[in-house]
Parts: sequence; C-alpha cells; structure tokens
Amino acid sequence: MAPTEKSRKGTVRTSDIAGRLLDWYDAHHRELPWRVSPSAFATGVRADPYRVWLSEIMLQQTTVEAVKPYFGKFLDKWPTVTDLALAEPEDVMKAWAGLGYYSRARNLKKCADLVAAEYAGIFPDTEDGLRELPGIGAYTAAAIAAIAFGQKASVIDGNVERVMSRLFEIRTPLPEAKGEIRILLDDIVPADRPGDFAQAMMDLGATICTPRRPRCMLCPLRDDCLAILTGDPELLPIKAPKTEKPTRRGAAFVALRHDGAILLRTRPEKGLLGGMSEVPTTGWTARQDGDLTEASAPFPADWRRSGSISHVFTHFVLELDVYLADVVSPETPAGHWWSPVSAVHEEALPTVMKKAIEAAIPDATRRRY
Ligand code: ADE
Repeated sequence: MAPTEKSRKGTVRTSDIAGRLLDWYDAHHRELPWRVSPSAFATGVRADPYRVWLSEIMLQQTTVEAVKPYFGKFLDKWPTVTDLALAEPEDVMKAWAGLGYYSRARNLKKCADLVAAEYAGIFPDTEDGLRELPGIGAYTAAAIAAIAFGQKASVIDGNVERVMSRLFEIRTPLPEAKGEIRILLDDIVPADRPGDFAQAMMDLGATICTPRRPRCMLCPLRDDCLAILTGDPELLPIKAPKTEKPTRRGAAFVALRHDGAILLRTRPEKGLLGGMSEVPTTGWTARQDGDLTEASAPFPADWRRSGSISHVFTHFVLELDVYLADVVSPETPAGHWWSPVSAVHEEALPTVMKKAIEAAIPDATRRRY
C-alpha cells in the first residue's frame, strides 16, 4: 500500500535534506551568469535584485541555454533597472524578439518603469511586495525573495515538482499534487541560504533528477528518496492527461519591394504577440474558409503561395499559408513600413513571423539587393 503523507514525512529524513542538498550544490552547482556562486556568497557577495528579477522573468517558460545570450544583451544595454526604465519600449521589444511569450517583455518594461518611478529603483524584498509588480506571479516572487533577499520562500517550478514527487513518492497526479508538494517543501526549506537551496533544487532537477533516465547513483538525496526504494523514479511525477491543442489557420503576406524591403506592421498592443512586428496576416481562426487565401491580401498584387508554416503557441497550433508578391512601386498602407529583408533581425519580429518570412524568402537575411 502507498504510504500516507504522514508516513512519507516520517520515512524521509526531512531535517537533513537541505544540508545534504546544499553540500552537493557547493560542489556541483552550475555556473550561470545571473548567479552568485556559493564561494562568493560565503565571502558576503549578494545577488543584485535587478539581475535576479531579469533572469527569472526570462527563465519563465524558457530554457537556461536560450536565456543566456539575451540576459547578457539586456545587461549590456541596460545595466540597472533605471536604465531599463529609460529605454524606449520598442527597443526592449526588439531586444526580446525571439525569446517568445512577449507579454513578459511588455510587463518587464512596465515593472522597470514602476520600480524606477515609485520605488526609487529598489525592488521590494518580500514575496507579497514583489507580487504587486507587473509580470511577477507566485513562483517568480518566491524565487526573487529567496535568491535576491534571502527570504525563506518555497520556490516550486516543474523541476522542483519532479524532485519532490520522487523524493516523497507522490502518486497524486499533477497539478492536483501541487498543494501536497508545497506543504512538504515548506518543511524542508532552510532559514539559512534559502536562495541557494532553491537553486540547488533547480540544478538537481535539471542535471540529476531529470525527466528521463535520472542519474540516481549521483544524487545527494538517493538515501532519502522513496521512489528509489519502492518503485521506478522515472515514472514520477504522474501528470493528468493533457487536452490536445486546437488548430487555427491563417494566411501571411510577404510583399517584397524591388530594393529588397518587405512590408511590416505592428500588432495591436493587447493580445497575443501584442506590440510585436509582423508581415500582414489574416485573422487566425479555427475555421477553414475563403478568408484565408490571397483574396485577403493587404493590396492587390501577383500573390503566389510560397509555402506554409506551423507554430505551436501555448493554447493552439497555428498553421499559416504564406504568400509572396514582388512589388515595384507600391503604396505604403497606413501604419505599415518597409524594412530591408537583410536587416529584419533588427525588427521586433516573433519567431512565427521569422518563419513566415523565411518560407517566402529563404535565406532572407543573407540576400543582397
Ligand atoms: N529556472 C528558473 N530560475 C532559475 C534559476 N535561478 N537558475 C536556474 N534555472 C532556473
């Protein structure tokens, strides 16, 4: 019979877990550009809240490897929260382009503006205070409070859920198990070095307690882990079945002027990819009808179908038919502009739009006109 929560807590030596994990972290932590290493921390160096905040926003739904170059670029351009507040919103969107989930960039800017204007450039140091700021939810507030301010906060992301599910052999499916995980984690988080503890859990989940083929032999918590004792760690966590994503369809129109410029416009501020640049497109709908052809192009031209792309968003899959037209001396529709195709990487184009341009004009950025 599966042990009850009480007996699991009794079985796992919860009092020593933080110590064992922190010892492992001291020896095996990942060197990350936003991180203060344990040896520096021991000499009194503390994390810069701006860097912690910036990294945590970027790391929401994005991998460490993808974030690293963006983090470096942002720090070079805007070394402090005040610098970011002084930046043009457009420049922030451009620097963010390619990282995805663009509402994060809009909220990043709003948050920087607010911290600079209302908080004298100083981030609040509690979870509750941080949660008042745009773009900071429960997870991010806990991470910043722990890592930047040494607050005893329970930081729970997907990695931590996996580690905890295995350590305590939690068989309740996620997301239902979240409450149970929080209660168990609250008990383990140490008052001393809670930030390193949070990062140690993340590192353990990313490097040892991986989704597939966990490297249990190297795990500092292997003697504590109920999943090793009683089952197969790889089978945990159990997840409630996902519902399949619906498909939406649309058409994108790449107008290529004789001098190698393409027509772009800005998406509405509110909604998906708000404020980003795009080639003109139809609406994206679940229907499959005549509005999705060249009949909906922004102006009459010799539109020809040049390919199709598909892009996965959080809540749906988008399939776009891509049309290309060579145009000689076109009018510029209101609110649109022409951008040299060799320099489109400098525009605030989301990945889906880069894919559409690439489908119409392969090797777009390497072309000469
Ligand atoms: N994922 C989210 N926050 C992180 C951090 N501070 N270090 C490593 N991975 C993370």
